[in-house]
Amino acid sequence: MPILSFNHVAKTLPYGFWLRRKSVLHDVSLSVEAGEVYGFLGPNGAGKTTSMKCLLGLLRPDAGSIEIFGRPGSDPGARHKLGYLPEQPYFYPHLTGAELVEYFGRLFGIAAPERRRRCGELLEMVGMSSKADLPIRQYSKGMMQRIGLAQALINDPELVILDEPMSGLDPIGRREVKEIILGLKKKGATVFFSSHILSDAEALCDRVGLLFSGRIIREGTVDELLEQRVRYWEAACEDLSRADLPGFEPSAQQGDRLYFRFEDDRQLDRWVDVVRAAGGRVVLVTPQRATLEEYFLATVKQDKADRGAAAAAESTARSAGASVDTSGAQEDALHSRPPRAAAGGAR
Ligand SMILES: Nc1ncnc2c1ncn2[C@@H]1O[C@H](COP(=O)(O)OP(=O)(O)O)[C@@H](O)[C@H]1O
Ligand SMILES: [Mg+2]
Repeated sequence: MPILSFNHVAKTLPYGFWLRRKSVLHDVSLSVEAGEVYGFLGPNGAGKTTSMKCLLGLLRPDAGSIEIFGRPGSDPGARHKLGYLPEQPYFYPHLTGAELVEYFGRLFGIAAPERRRRCGELLEMVGMSSKADLPIRQYSKGMMQRIGLAQALINDPELVILDEPMSGLDPIGRREVKEIILGLKKKGATVFFSSHILSDAEALCDRVGLLFSGRIIREGTVDELLEQRVRYWEAACEDLSRADLPGFEPSAQQGDRLYFRFEDDRQLDRWVDVVRAAGGRVVLVTPQRATLEEYFLATVKQDKADRGAAAAAESTARSAGASVDTSGAQEDALHSRPPRAAAGGAR
């Protein structure tokens, strides 16, 4: 049973002076299994934060349902095992970082000694021990992000929901947050996080869902999504000269080693045969996969083209449908009437 699932969730939000409503989520379905790190990925404005707010019961979906731990997302009972880092956390600016984490510990009813121990551990984990006694108003965006993460983890949650946890952090901070996420997974927690930076997710996620314009356009493991898209193969051989491999043009040479690129794996097979037959050694064959970013861009482009083609086909079908009654007559006209009359009828 999934720990978290969206089932055909749709949401509109009001916008503009007349508060017309625009459709932000269309039929979003996804599921996150226990123990997974799930990357909810998509560009700015795709609807990630809106989805997370629906998930936390801060917004109500117009249609569809959300379940957490097998209960409706709106059920408060589902919440105490959950930790949440909002995209733009607002914390009382006069509190120090340590006081803030302590405060959330109290909200969860954690007893004093345990609370103090956990606060210390978490501040250490997010790299904020030395800044814990500064008031939050003096924190940078990255420091807010870290203290927000400590706050989200105070109740030792089974499900951690992080909205853009890497945003505002420098490369070291991003790496540290990734390590924290992997640490949570190691402890058995489930992590559902959003990011608009796809490369952040690549080495981190068990599965990803790609959200674009409020629609999940793909869902799967990073490998599943990328394995269909080997861009080319890089191969190299040794102990041969260029003359031993007629018909194959090396892309580079380094000492005794010749490098080749193949876009077609049948061509690669042929090359391997020729290398072996000529007494050479194949020392390298590596598929060069598209990055998640390239995959995403290509998928969006493909989807747009498909949707455009589907719309065009529909409108053609519609206009063809409109002339169905007359098409027989037109055909008759073309065959049985004199050409001039047919041409006149078609005008
Ligand atoms: N409170 C709001 N009122 C009206 N429109 C909103 C509101 N919040 C977000 N939106 C719109 O909803 C869309 C999705 O936004 P959001 O969920 O924040 O995307 P993401 O988190 O993926 O960047 C955007 O077009 C945004 O302008
Ligand atoms: Mg967002």
